[in-house]
Amino acid sequence: MSVQSDVRRLTAPDILARKGGEPIVCLTSYHAHTAAVVDKHCDVILVGDSLGMVMHGLETTVPVTLDMMILQGHAVMRGSQRALVVVDMPFGSYEVSKEQAFMNAARVLKETGCGAIKLEGGTRMAESIAFMVERGVPVMAHVGLTPQSINTIGSFRAQGREESDWARIEADTLAVSEAGAFSVVIEAVAEPLARKLTAQVPIPTIGIGASPACDGQVLVLEDMLGLSPRVPKFVKRYSDLGPGIDKAVASYAAEVRARTFPGPEHTYPMKKK
Ligand code: KIV
Repeated sequence: MSVQSDVRRLTAPDILARKGGEPIVCLTSYHAHTAAVVDKHCDVILVGDSLGMVMHGLETTVPVTLDMMILQGHAVMRGSQRALVVVDMPFGSYEVSKEQAFMNAARVLKETGCGAIKLEGGTRMAESIAFMVERGVPVMAHVGLTPQSINTIGSFRAQGREESDWARIEADTLAVSEAGAFSVVIEAVAEPLARKLTAQVPIPTIGIGASPACDGQVLVLEDMLGLSPRVPKFVKRYSDLGPGIDKAVASYAAEVRARTFPGPEHTYPMKKK
């Protein structure tokens, strides 16, 4: 007997087929509960390595490990049914060789059940992307600002704001597309360049701080909910949940101290004889 869900999950080929069509909606999630909410509204759930900063309070994504990504990727798969779940390959898990990239990507696919992986880098990753795609690993690429390179680039600043930078970013985007990536995240890139890249490549571009012309958009869930203390310029806060959570925790603390929580409705009386 096979264990099949009634809901058909979107696949990497489904997302590829959306090039130039209805915008692809993507958000990050790292937990089963938020995944269930995001799944209702989004086509793609990204288990981003931003979890290092958001969940663990790290300064950068560099210390994130493959085990951390697999644990949260598995949780997101359990919480979702329909969206394509894409799990980020963390820094150090794929750059050494195409073989290393394949082995670790295969671990992510096997141990989480997700439908694709994402990795950062353009031209330098093209050979590994082709190697993985030929062997059954769907790859979402990530160009423009690549936060895992923070120690060599020095800051999280927007890319391509000088025309002299465009050729490099265009070459990166074309390289990952030609290598077989099914989509590409374009992060913090000057709007006219992101628009041009979207017109140039035959795969969907997913913008974050890029352009409304991109084939889809992605944001970090906690950033758009107003839970992150500092956010980049490209984040729109769709909610401000921080004060609401603060108020709820303060009420709980006050009621525990006053012994008004738990009330009779929250406790178990003895069974009637
Ligand atoms: O790690 C992440 O959340 C990401 C998105 C910001 C694209 O890579």
